Amino acid sequence: MSTTRGLEGIVATTSSVSSIIESVLTYQGFDIDDLADNASFEEVIYLLWNGRLPKSDELRQLAEDLAKYAEIPSGIIEQMKSYPIDKVHPMAALRTAISGLALFDENADVMEEEANHVKALKLQAQIPTIVTAFSRIRDGKDPVAPRKDLGFAANFLYMLNGEEPDEIAVNAFNKALVLHADHELNASTFTARVCVATLSDVYSGITSAIGALKGPLHGGANEAVMKMLMEIGDVDNVEPYIRKALDNKEKIMGFGHRVYKNGDPRAKHLKEMSKRLTEITGETKWYEMSIKINDMVTGEKGLLPNVDFYSASVYHSLGIKHDLFTPIFAISRTSGWLAHILEQYSNNRLIRPRAEYVGPQKQKYVPIEQR
Ligand code: ACO
Repeated sequence: MSTTRGLEGIVATTSSVSSIIESVLTYQGFDIDDLADNASFEEVIYLLWNGRLPKSDELRQLAEDLAKYAEIPSGIIEQMKSYPIDKVHPMAALRTAISGLALFDENADVMEEEANHVKALKLQAQIPTIVTAFSRIRDGKDPVAPRKDLGFAANFLYMLNGEEPDEIAVNAFNKALVLHADHELNASTFTARVCVATLSDVYSGITSAIGALKGPLHGGANEAVMKMLMEIGDVDNVEPYIRKALDNKEKIMGFGHRVYKNGDPRAKHLKEMSKRLTEITGETKWYEMSIKINDMVTGEKGLLPNVDFYSASVYHSLGIKHDLFTPIFAISRTSGWLAHILEQYSNNRLIRPRAEYVGPQKQKYVPIEQR
Protein backbone atom coordinates (compact mmCIF):
# COMPACT_ATOMS: atom_id res chain seq x y z
CA MET A 1 0.00 0.00 0.00
CA SER A 2 1.42 3.42 -0.86
CA THR A 3 0.28 6.70 0.67
CA THR A 4 0.21 10.30 -0.48
CA ARG A 5 0.42 12.84 2.33
CA GLY A 6 -2.57 15.14 2.27
CA LEU A 7 -3.92 13.22 -0.75
CA GLU A 8 -1.84 15.53 -2.96
CA GLY A 9 -2.49 14.90 -6.63
CA ILE A 10 -5.07 12.17 -5.94
CA VAL A 11 -8.11 12.30 -8.20
CA ALA A 12 -10.90 11.22 -5.86
CA THR A 13 -14.02 11.74 -7.99
CA THR A 14 -15.34 12.96 -11.30
CA SER A 15 -17.26 16.23 -11.24
CA SER A 16 -18.73 18.68 -13.72
CA VAL A 17 -19.17 21.55 -11.26
CA SER A 18 -15.81 23.29 -11.62
CA SER A 19 -12.31 22.61 -12.87
CA ILE A 20 -8.73 23.79 -12.41
CA ILE A 21 -6.81 22.97 -15.56
CA GLU A 22 -3.40 24.54 -16.15
CA SER A 23 -4.15 27.16 -13.49
CA VAL A 24 -7.40 28.21 -15.18
CA LEU A 25 -10.46 27.98 -12.92
CA THR A 26 -13.80 27.39 -14.58
CA TYR A 27 -17.32 26.93 -13.22
CA GLN A 28 -19.16 24.51 -15.53
CA GLY A 29 -16.68 25.43 -18.27
CA PHE A 30 -16.99 29.23 -17.83
CA ASP A 31 -13.67 30.96 -17.10
CA ILE A 32 -13.76 32.63 -13.69
CA ASP A 33 -12.37 35.84 -15.30
CA ASP A 34 -15.44 36.03 -17.54
CA LEU A 35 -17.84 35.41 -14.67
CA ALA A 36 -16.07 37.81 -12.28
CA ASP A 37 -16.41 40.63 -14.82
CA ASN A 38 -19.97 39.94 -15.89
CA ALA A 39 -22.08 37.66 -13.69
CA SER A 40 -24.28 38.24 -10.68
CA PHE A 41 -23.85 35.81 -7.79
CA GLU A 42 -27.40 34.57 -8.40
CA GLU A 43 -26.45 33.65 -11.98
CA VAL A 44 -23.46 31.74 -10.62
CA ILE A 45 -25.65 29.84 -8.15
CA TYR A 46 -27.93 28.82 -11.01
CA LEU A 47 -24.96 27.88 -13.18
CA LEU A 48 -23.36 25.71 -10.50
CA TRP A 49 -26.61 23.88 -9.72
CA ASN A 50 -27.95 23.50 -13.25
CA GLY A 51 -24.92 23.40 -15.51
CA ARG A 52 -25.94 26.42 -17.59
CA LEU A 53 -26.60 30.13 -17.22
CA PRO A 54 -30.23 31.00 -16.44
CA LYS A 55 -32.67 32.67 -18.83
CA SER A 56 -34.40 35.80 -17.46
CA ASP A 57 -37.47 33.98 -16.13
CA GLU A 58 -35.29 31.30 -14.50
CA LEU A 59 -33.15 33.95 -12.81
CA ARG A 60 -36.29 35.77 -11.65
CA GLN A 61 -37.63 32.51 -10.21
CA LEU A 62 -34.36 31.84 -8.36
CA ALA A 63 -34.38 35.36 -6.91
CA GLU A 64 -38.00 34.87 -5.80
CA ASP A 65 -37.18 31.54 -4.18
CA LEU A 66 -34.16 32.96 -2.36
CA ALA A 67 -36.26 35.88 -1.13
CA LYS A 68 -39.05 33.52 -0.06
CA TYR A 69 -36.74 31.40 2.10
CA ALA A 70 -34.38 34.09 3.43
CA GLU A 71 -36.03 34.53 6.82
CA ILE A 72 -34.71 32.18 9.50
CA PRO A 73 -36.81 30.45 12.18
CA SER A 74 -37.22 32.57 15.31
CA GLY A 75 -35.91 29.57 17.25
CA ILE A 76 -32.51 30.04 15.57
CA ILE A 77 -32.43 33.72 16.58
CA GLU A 78 -33.30 32.76 20.17
CA GLN A 79 -30.63 30.05 20.09
CA MET A 80 -28.01 32.55 18.87
CA LYS A 81 -28.94 34.94 21.66
CA SER A 82 -28.14 32.17 24.14
CA TYR A 83 -24.57 31.63 22.82
CA PRO A 84 -21.77 33.02 25.04
CA ILE A 85 -21.68 35.96 22.65
CA ASP A 86 -18.47 37.65 23.79
CA LYS A 87 -16.41 34.46 23.44
CA VAL A 88 -17.85 32.86 20.32
CA HIS A 89 -16.22 33.15 16.92
CA PRO A 90 -18.83 33.78 14.19
CA MET A 91 -17.66 30.68 12.30
CA ALA A 92 -18.42 28.51 15.33
CA ALA A 93 -21.78 30.27 15.70
CA LEU A 94 -22.49 29.71 12.02
CA ARG A 95 -21.58 26.02 12.19
CA THR A 96 -23.95 25.53 15.13
CA ALA A 97 -26.79 27.61 13.67
CA ILE A 98 -26.66 25.82 10.29
CA SER A 99 -26.84 22.49 12.09
CA GLY A 100 -29.75 23.94 14.10
CA LEU A 101 -31.67 24.79 10.91
CA ALA A 102 -32.15 21.06 10.28
CA LEU A 103 -34.18 20.82 13.49
CA PHE A 104 -36.68 23.31 12.08
CA ASP A 105 -37.04 21.57 8.71
CA GLU A 106 -39.39 18.61 8.78
CA ASN A 107 -37.97 17.49 5.42
CA ALA A 108 -34.36 17.53 6.64
CA ASP A 109 -34.01 13.78 6.13
CA VAL A 110 -36.22 13.40 3.07
CA MET A 111 -33.83 12.32 0.34
CA GLU A 112 -35.96 12.87 -2.78
CA GLU A 113 -34.34 15.09 -5.41
CA GLU A 114 -37.00 17.80 -5.19
CA ALA A 115 -36.79 17.93 -1.38
CA ASN A 116 -33.00 18.26 -1.56
CA HIS A 117 -33.32 21.04 -4.12
CA VAL A 118 -35.63 22.99 -1.78
CA LYS A 119 -33.15 22.47 1.08
CA ALA A 120 -30.39 23.83 -1.15
CA LEU A 121 -32.46 26.97 -1.82
CA LYS A 122 -33.25 27.37 1.88
CA LEU A 123 -29.64 26.99 2.98
CA GLN A 124 -28.32 29.40 0.36
CA ALA A 125 -31.02 31.93 1.25
CA GLN A 126 -30.65 31.61 5.02
CA ILE A 127 -26.89 31.56 5.52
CA PRO A 128 -26.49 35.36 5.00
CA THR A 129 -29.41 35.97 7.35
CA ILE A 130 -27.70 33.88 10.03
CA VAL A 131 -24.30 35.57 9.63
CA THR A 132 -25.75 39.08 9.76
CA ALA A 133 -28.18 38.29 12.59
CA PHE A 134 -25.36 36.89 14.73
CA SER A 135 -23.19 39.92 14.00
CA ARG A 136 -25.94 42.29 15.09
CA ILE A 137 -27.00 40.26 18.15
CA ARG A 138 -23.46 40.34 19.56
CA ASP A 139 -23.39 44.10 18.99
CA GLY A 140 -26.55 44.39 21.09
CA LYS A 141 -28.69 45.22 18.05
CA ASP A 142 -31.81 43.59 16.63
CA PRO A 143 -31.36 41.47 13.50
CA VAL A 144 -32.54 43.16 10.31
CA ALA A 145 -35.01 41.12 8.26
CA PRO A 146 -34.06 40.38 4.62
CA ARG A 147 -35.68 42.51 1.92
CA LYS A 148 -37.40 40.90 -1.05
CA ASP A 149 -36.52 43.74 -3.44
CA LEU A 150 -32.73 43.56 -2.99
CA GLY A 151 -30.32 41.21 -4.77
CA PHE A 152 -28.17 38.74 -2.84
CA ALA A 153 -25.08 40.94 -2.40
CA ALA A 154 -27.08 44.07 -1.52
CA ASN A 155 -29.28 42.16 0.91
CA PHE A 156 -26.27 40.89 2.86
CA LEU A 157 -24.82 44.39 3.29
CA TYR A 158 -28.27 45.75 4.13
CA MET A 159 -28.92 43.10 6.80
CA LEU A 160 -25.44 43.63 8.22
CA ASN A 161 -25.56 47.42 8.53
CA GLY A 162 -29.28 48.17 8.58
CA GLU A 163 -28.94 50.60 5.69
CA GLU A 164 -28.98 50.24 1.94
CA PRO A 165 -25.44 49.91 0.54
CA ASP A 166 -24.11 52.03 -2.32
CA GLU A 167 -23.56 50.60 -5.78
CA ILE A 168 -19.77 50.40 -5.47
CA ALA A 169 -20.02 48.26 -2.33
CA VAL A 170 -22.69 46.02 -3.87
CA ASN A 171 -20.67 45.44 -7.05
CA ALA A 172 -17.47 44.73 -5.13
CA PHE A 173 -19.23 42.34 -2.77
CA ASN A 174 -20.99 40.59 -5.66
CA LYS A 175 -17.65 40.07 -7.38
CA ALA A 176 -16.10 38.64 -4.20
CA LEU A 177 -19.03 36.21 -3.91
CA VAL A 178 -18.61 35.12 -7.55
CA LEU A 179 -14.87 34.54 -7.04
CA HIS A 180 -15.31 32.37 -3.95
CA ALA A 181 -18.29 30.30 -5.13
CA ASP A 182 -16.58 27.05 -6.06
CA HIS A 183 -13.14 25.55 -6.34
CA GLU A 184 -13.10 21.93 -7.42
CA LEU A 185 -12.29 19.40 -4.69
CA ASN A 186 -10.95 21.76 -2.02
CA ALA A 187 -10.84 20.59 1.61
CA SER A 188 -14.31 21.78 2.65
CA THR A 189 -15.99 20.55 -0.53
CA PHE A 190 -14.36 17.15 -0.13
CA THR A 191 -15.56 17.13 3.48
CA ALA A 192 -19.12 17.86 2.34
CA ARG A 193 -18.98 15.08 -0.25
CA VAL A 194 -17.56 12.55 2.22
CA CYS A 195 -20.36 13.40 4.64
CA VAL A 196 -23.28 13.13 2.23
CA ALA A 197 -21.83 10.05 0.51
CA THR A 198 -22.97 8.16 3.63
CA LEU A 199 -26.46 9.36 2.55
CA SER A 200 -26.51 11.78 5.44
CA ASP A 201 -28.62 14.92 4.91
CA VAL A 202 -27.81 18.22 3.19
CA TYR A 203 -27.64 20.15 6.50
CA SER A 204 -25.02 17.71 7.82
CA GLY A 205 -23.01 18.15 4.62
CA ILE A 206 -22.95 21.96 4.91
CA THR A 207 -22.25 21.84 8.66
CA SER A 208 -19.24 19.57 8.05
CA ALA A 209 -17.99 21.81 5.26
CA ILE A 210 -18.18 24.90 7.48
CA GLY A 211 -16.07 23.05 10.06
CA ALA A 212 -13.39 22.38 7.44
CA LEU A 213 -13.48 25.90 5.98
CA LYS A 214 -12.95 27.41 9.43
CA GLY A 215 -9.30 26.32 9.69
CA PRO A 216 -6.53 28.86 8.98
CA LEU A 217 -4.97 26.69 6.28
CA HIS A 218 -8.24 26.99 4.34
CA GLY A 219 -10.93 29.70 4.58
CA GLY A 220 -9.74 30.99 7.94
CA ALA A 221 -6.69 32.45 6.20
CA ASN A 222 -8.49 35.65 5.13
CA GLU A 223 -9.04 36.72 8.74
CA ALA A 224 -5.46 35.72 9.57
CA VAL A 225 -4.18 37.95 6.74
CA MET A 226 -6.02 40.94 8.18
CA LYS A 227 -4.62 40.16 11.64
CA MET A 228 -1.14 40.23 10.13
CA LEU A 229 -1.83 43.55 8.34
CA MET A 230 -3.09 45.05 11.61
CA GLU A 231 -0.01 43.82 13.49
CA ILE A 232 2.28 45.30 10.84
CA GLY A 233 0.31 48.53 10.96
CA ASP A 234 2.39 50.55 8.53
CA VAL A 235 4.20 50.15 5.21
CA ASP A 236 7.56 50.86 6.87
CA ASN A 237 7.11 47.91 9.23
CA VAL A 238 6.53 45.35 6.47
CA GLU A 239 10.20 44.58 5.79
CA PRO A 240 11.29 43.75 9.39
CA TYR A 241 8.02 41.91 10.16
CA ILE A 242 8.12 39.64 7.11
CA ARG A 243 11.90 39.15 7.39
CA LYS A 244 11.51 37.90 10.96
CA ALA A 245 8.57 35.64 10.02
CA LEU A 246 10.49 34.13 7.10
CA ASP A 247 13.65 33.66 9.21
CA ASN A 248 11.52 31.88 11.83
CA LYS A 249 10.05 29.67 9.07
CA GLU A 250 6.56 30.91 9.88
CA LYS A 251 3.82 30.57 7.29
CA ILE A 252 2.71 33.85 5.76
CA MET A 253 -1.05 33.68 5.56
CA GLY A 254 -2.63 34.18 2.14
CA PHE A 255 0.31 32.67 0.24
CA GLY A 256 0.81 29.28 -1.35
CA HIS A 257 -1.63 26.78 -2.73
CA ARG A 258 -1.83 23.02 -3.06
CA VAL A 259 -2.98 23.12 -6.68
CA TYR A 260 -1.82 26.43 -8.20
CA LYS A 261 1.91 26.73 -8.50
CA ASN A 262 1.74 29.54 -11.10
CA GLY A 263 -0.67 31.72 -9.16
CA ASP A 264 -4.30 31.71 -8.11
CA PRO A 265 -6.40 33.24 -10.94
CA ARG A 266 -8.78 34.81 -8.40
CA ALA A 267 -6.07 36.85 -6.69
CA LYS A 268 -5.60 39.39 -9.51
CA HIS A 269 -9.28 40.40 -9.33
CA LEU A 270 -9.12 40.88 -5.57
CA LYS A 271 -5.84 42.79 -5.88
CA GLU A 272 -7.46 45.22 -8.32
CA MET A 273 -10.50 45.55 -6.04
CA SER A 274 -8.25 46.17 -3.04
CA LYS A 275 -6.48 49.00 -4.90
CA ARG A 276 -9.74 50.62 -5.95
CA LEU A 277 -11.54 50.28 -2.63
CA THR A 278 -8.63 51.47 -0.50
CA GLU A 279 -8.38 54.54 -2.77
CA ILE A 280 -12.07 55.22 -2.18
CA THR A 281 -11.76 54.85 1.62
CA GLY A 282 -8.52 56.86 1.63
CA GLU A 283 -6.78 54.03 3.50
CA THR A 284 -4.36 53.04 0.76
CA LYS A 285 -1.88 51.75 3.32
CA TRP A 286 -3.62 48.36 3.41
CA TYR A 287 -3.08 47.93 -0.30
CA GLU A 288 0.46 49.31 -0.18
CA MET A 289 1.37 46.99 2.69
CA SER A 290 -0.15 44.06 0.82
CA ILE A 291 1.89 44.84 -2.29
CA LYS A 292 5.09 45.06 -0.27
CA ILE A 293 4.38 41.75 1.50
CA ASN A 294 3.53 40.19 -1.86
CA ASP A 295 6.84 41.39 -3.37
CA MET A 296 8.88 40.06 -0.46
CA VAL A 297 7.18 36.67 -0.11
CA THR A 298 7.17 36.04 -3.84
CA GLY A 299 10.70 37.35 -4.25
CA GLU A 300 12.21 35.32 -1.44
CA LYS A 301 10.07 32.17 -1.32
CA GLY A 302 8.59 32.03 -4.81
CA LEU A 303 5.13 31.81 -3.19
CA LEU A 304 2.22 33.60 -4.85
CA PRO A 305 -0.86 35.10 -3.19
CA ASN A 306 -4.00 32.98 -3.03
CA VAL A 307 -7.65 34.09 -2.94
CA ASP A 308 -7.42 34.99 0.75
CA PHE A 309 -4.58 37.51 0.57
CA TYR A 310 -6.17 40.53 -1.12
CA SER A 311 -9.71 39.64 -0.04
CA ALA A 312 -8.70 40.73 3.48
CA SER A 313 -8.14 44.38 2.52
CA VAL A 314 -11.20 44.25 0.23
CA TYR A 315 -13.55 43.21 3.06
CA HIS A 316 -11.87 45.61 5.49
CA SER A 317 -12.47 48.45 3.03
CA LEU A 318 -16.14 47.48 2.84
CA GLY A 319 -16.30 48.11 6.60
CA ILE A 320 -16.78 44.44 7.48
CA LYS A 321 -15.60 43.16 10.85
CA HIS A 322 -12.55 40.93 10.48
CA ASP A 323 -14.00 37.83 12.10
CA LEU A 324 -16.83 37.90 9.54
CA PHE A 325 -14.43 37.40 6.62
CA THR A 326 -14.52 33.60 6.81
CA PRO A 327 -18.32 33.42 7.34
CA ILE A 328 -18.62 35.51 4.15
CA PHE A 329 -16.46 32.96 2.38
CA ALA A 330 -18.89 30.30 3.67
CA ILE A 331 -21.90 32.24 2.32
CA SER A 332 -20.41 32.19 -1.15
CA ARG A 333 -18.94 28.67 -1.02
CA THR A 334 -22.31 27.26 0.11
CA SER A 335 -23.35 27.54 -3.55
CA GLY A 336 -20.46 25.28 -4.58
CA TRP A 337 -20.86 22.91 -1.64
CA LEU A 338 -24.53 22.47 -2.54
CA ALA A 339 -23.72 21.83 -6.20
CA HIS A 340 -21.25 19.13 -5.14
CA ILE A 341 -23.67 17.63 -2.61
CA LEU A 342 -26.42 17.35 -5.24
CA GLU A 343 -23.93 15.91 -7.71
CA GLN A 344 -22.75 13.37 -5.11
CA TYR A 345 -26.34 12.24 -4.40
CA SER A 346 -27.01 11.87 -8.12
CA ASN A 347 -24.24 9.28 -8.56
CA ASN A 348 -23.39 8.18 -5.06
CA ARG A 349 -20.87 5.74 -3.73
CA LEU A 350 -19.59 5.72 -0.14
CA ILE A 351 -16.20 7.48 0.14
CA ARG A 352 -14.00 5.28 2.27
CA PRO A 353 -10.25 5.29 1.61
CA ARG A 354 -7.66 3.22 3.46
CA ALA A 355 -4.83 4.11 5.85
CA GLU A 356 -1.41 2.51 5.78
CA TYR A 357 -0.94 1.13 9.30
CA VAL A 358 2.35 2.22 10.91
CA GLY A 359 1.53 1.51 14.57
CA PRO A 360 2.81 -1.33 16.79
CA GLN A 361 2.01 -4.94 15.91
CA LYS A 362 1.12 -8.12 17.78
CA GLN A 363 0.49 -6.46 21.13
CA LYS A 364 -0.95 -8.57 23.97
CA TYR A 365 -3.51 -7.38 26.50
CA VAL A 366 -1.93 -6.83 29.95
CA PRO A 367 -4.17 -6.60 33.03
CA ILE A 368 -4.22 -3.04 34.40
CA GLU A 369 -2.38 -3.84 37.66
CA GLN A 370 0.55 -5.27 35.67
CA ARG A 371 1.08 -2.28 33.34
N1 ACO B 1 4.34 30.84 3.94
C1 ACO B 1 5.60 30.34 4.06
N2 ACO B 1 5.95 29.14 3.56
C2 ACO B 1 5.00 28.43 2.94
C3 ACO B 1 3.69 28.90 2.79
C4 ACO B 1 3.38 30.15 3.34
N3 ACO B 1 2.15 30.66 3.22
N4 ACO B 1 2.97 27.99 2.11
C5 ACO B 1 3.80 26.98 1.85
N5 ACO B 1 5.02 27.25 2.34
C6 ACO B 1 6.20 26.39 2.25
C7 ACO B 1 6.08 25.25 3.27
O1 ACO B 1 6.60 25.60 4.51
C8 ACO B 1 6.84 24.17 2.57
O2 ACO B 1 8.22 24.43 2.75
P1 ACO B 1 9.26 23.22 3.00
O3 ACO B 1 9.15 22.35 1.78
O4 ACO B 1 10.55 23.92 3.17
O5 ACO B 1 8.75 22.52 4.24
C9 ACO B 1 6.52 24.37 1.10
O6 ACO B 1 6.20 25.77 0.98
C10 ACO B 1 5.36 23.53 0.62
O7 ACO B 1 4.22 23.86 1.43
P2 ACO B 1 3.16 22.86 1.98
O8 ACO B 1 2.65 23.35 3.30
O9 ACO B 1 3.69 21.46 1.95
O10 ACO B 1 2.05 23.00 0.89
P3 ACO B 1 0.61 22.39 0.97
O11 ACO B 1 0.19 22.13 -0.41
O12 ACO B 1 0.55 21.26 1.93
O13 ACO B 1 -0.23 23.57 1.64
C11 ACO B 1 -1.32 25.61 1.91
C12 ACO B 1 -0.93 24.52 0.92
C13 ACO B 1 -2.02 24.98 3.10
C14 ACO B 1 -2.27 26.55 1.21
C15 ACO B 1 -0.05 26.35 2.37
O14 ACO B 1 0.53 27.01 1.27
C16 ACO B 1 -0.34 27.33 3.49
O15 ACO B 1 -0.35 26.94 4.66
N6 ACO B 1 -0.59 28.64 3.16
C17 ACO B 1 -0.94 29.62 4.19
C18 ACO B 1 -2.40 29.48 4.58
C19 ACO B 1 -3.34 29.96 3.48
O16 ACO B 1 -3.15 31.01 2.91
N7 ACO B 1 -4.37 29.16 3.22
C20 ACO B 1 -5.41 29.49 2.24
C21 ACO B 1 -5.27 28.62 1.03
S1 ACO B 1 -6.47 29.06 -0.21
C22 ACO B 1 -7.92 28.48 0.43
O17 ACO B 1 -7.99 27.48 1.09
C23 ACO B 1 -9.11 29.25 0.22
